[in-house]
Amino acid sequence: MKFFIDTANLDEIKQAHQLGILSGVTTNPSLVAKEGVNFHERLKAITEVVTTGSVSAEVIATDAAGMIEEGKELAAIAPNITIKVPMTLEGLKAVRAFSELNISTNVTLVFSVNQALLAARAGATYVSPFLGRLDDIGHDGLELISKIAEVFDLHGISTEIIAASIRHPQHVTESALRGAHIATIPFQVIRQLVQHPLTDAGIERFLSDWEKTKKS
Ligand code: E4P
Repeated sequence: MKFFIDTANLDEIKQAHQLGILSGVTTNPSLVAKEGVNFHERLKAITEVVTTGSVSAEVIATDAAGMIEEGKELAAIAPNITIKVPMTLEGLKAVRAFSELNISTNVTLVFSVNQALLAARAGATYVSPFLGRLDDIGHDGLELISKIAEVFDLHGISTEIIAASIRHPQHVTESALRGAHIATIPFQVIRQLVQHPLTDAGIERFLSDWEKTKKS
């Protein structure tokens, strides 16, 4: 499973990129609004840091024609921009059009196997099931990952599954075990993935033992 970062914060993207683990970035209108920056300028800056991996940029229009127009403008910013399209009837039409234009797409706000299957058949490059938001309403987000992975595998579908709306490290481990191709993760969760109390205790013990050798 590959790692994407789920943020529009440039500093976080740079820090994650320096770790050498980053295969892409996802943004959404809420994440961009939080930054209070010009969307196109921020996307350009992100693609200058992450030069090869996919950078998802979401359309705001709700009709297919509007989505296609917006998506073409966003795709012109850099060759690694992926157009993020909401899972609606109009969204599916736009995904088909982008697929014919060889523009990659990420179908977002996926909450069922049927939605994922429809998106894949419309030509989506990626589908993004939202784990955390399903868990929030008492459903099992991880179970959805398992089912989408099973259906895609059964029918030879090459659309990649991005586990999204990740809230904690266990979501990451379980997404990998259940067959997600990618997890898009907030920066604070990436930091949590690195940490283990036994690693900290081990470093402390090695350093104190090393200090003792100097005294003997
Ligand atoms: C994915 O592409 C979305 O940006 C994101 O994972 C949404 O997560 P949230 O439910 O924490 O807003």
